[in-house]
Amino acid sequence: MKILVINGPNLNMLGIREPDVYGHDTYEDLVRMITDAALGLGVEIEVFQSNHEGALVDKIQSAYGDADAIVINPAAYTHTSVAILDALKAVSMPAVEVHISNVSEREAFRQISYAGMACEKTYAGYGFDGYVMALEYLFKEYGDKK
Ligand code: DQA
Repeated sequence: MKILVINGPNLNMLGIREPDVYGHDTYEDLVRMITDAALGLGVEIEVFQSNHEGALVDKIQSAYGDADAIVINPAAYTHTSVAILDALKAVSMPAVEVHISNVSEREAFRQISYAGMACEKTYAGYGFDGYVMALEYLFKEYGDKK
């Protein structure tokens, strides 16, 4: 089983950006945690981050025929990007949405998730653990079929 993990804008600034919201651990720490979890599950993993909407759309499209499932934290594009929603619908593969913070308890403009409309599950507010929960969920649901 291969899972593509996609992270959107400003997540490369983890550890620096708003530590009261996102914690002190860095993006490198996050990648290490995801990689270790994938290794433990015996899942092949690719981790991608971009600050650009089109690059995120390109990466989602590239999963078609290459990956079996997607974990995505579209960051700010969660709340604005119909293009990312359409890309997830286009590739039509199991997808799980992750947010480090609990977006449901934040500002009104964070209450809509376009990407979430194409995801079968959302983990929000669990910090970095949400990514591991997403991998475990996808492995449990789809891993044995690979
Ligand atoms: C985020 C939440 C978004 O609202 C925000 O724009 C981010 C990060 C999270 O992981 O909590 O950049 O997706």
